Amino acid sequence: EDSTLPEVATLEALRPLLPRRPLTAHKGSVGRVGVLGGYRGEGLLYAGAPLLAALGAYRMGAGLVHLVLPEGHPPSPLEAVFHPVPAPSLPPLKVEALAVGMGGGPWGAAWALAALEAGLPTVLDADALTLEVAEAYRRRGLPAVLTPHAGEAARLLGTTPEAVAGDPLEAARALAERTGLTVVLKGAPTVVAEGDRLSVNPTGHPALATGGTGDVLSGAIAALLAAGLPPFEAARLGVFLHGLAGDLLAEEKGIGLLAHEVAEALPRARRLLE
Ligand code: APR
Ligand code: MG
Repeated sequence: EDSTLPEVATLEALRPLLPRRPLTAHKGSVGRVGVLGGYRGEGLLYAGAPLLAALGAYRMGAGLVHLVLPEGHPPSPLEAVFHPVPAPSLPPLKVEALAVGMGGGPWGAAWALAALEAGLPTVLDADALTLEVAEAYRRRGLPAVLTPHAGEAARLLGTTPEAVAGDPLEAARALAERTGLTVVLKGAPTVVAEGDRLSVNPTGHPALATGGTGDVLSGAIAALLAAGLPPFEAARLGVFLHGLAGDLLAEEKGIGLLAHEVAEALPRARRLLE
């Protein structure tokens, strides 16, 4: 029986983690994020996924977001810098953190292995979530945050989504132990695990159960990594603010919110912590 006691994240505990924005801030000083994802080929296209991650990063305060995408991928948002590539690869990027895998489909692991060469703190999401990828990041000693939902966690742990959802604390702890990385097990509630630390997130709303909200979260956590937060802190703060954004929106509009609106609500959630 493991003796790890989970904490419940609170606004008071997380407030000091919020990166301050000095009057002299410029877009190169507040954290720049690279997003690597997307896919071109046969099969399903989650073309919006990396773009939503870029929005999440900007709305969490990133100074600049670079998007590395397959050639021909729809370019958006207006504010991003685009690096079209023929296949998963890492162009030279001036960034401090990465978010990798969103909409990657069969290219997900290849994006993650290419991104490894940057040697940067990295959020690994969606199709980048494989044991081979996790092991490569652990061996390099890179701070990495895995952001699986129950299905992705079940695939990594060799169990069922139902078993993961039935005991998310134990599943998050086991996955952090298995990979040696920081784990954000998304769900209701979302649990963050790293080593013997376990944190349960109190914010979030069933209105978040809609396509793309997870991609927004990946970008948001990457922005906090880029601002200099350690992975466990970036994960807890990112998850808390993302859930709070969902709460605020659900209060206003009810069910039927869109993932890009969750990104838009992040600054309001952040102000409640300032
Ligand atoms: N209560 C609170 N939060 C919830 C709830 C709920 N009932 N349901 C979902 N959420 C939150 C989760 O905690 C998570 O932050 O919404 C987000 C959903 O993230 P994902 O499950 O990753 O969903 P999505 O963003 O649609 O992912 C899109 O990821 O799984 C892949 O193949 C999928 O490419 C697709 C991409
Ligand atoms: Mg997802």
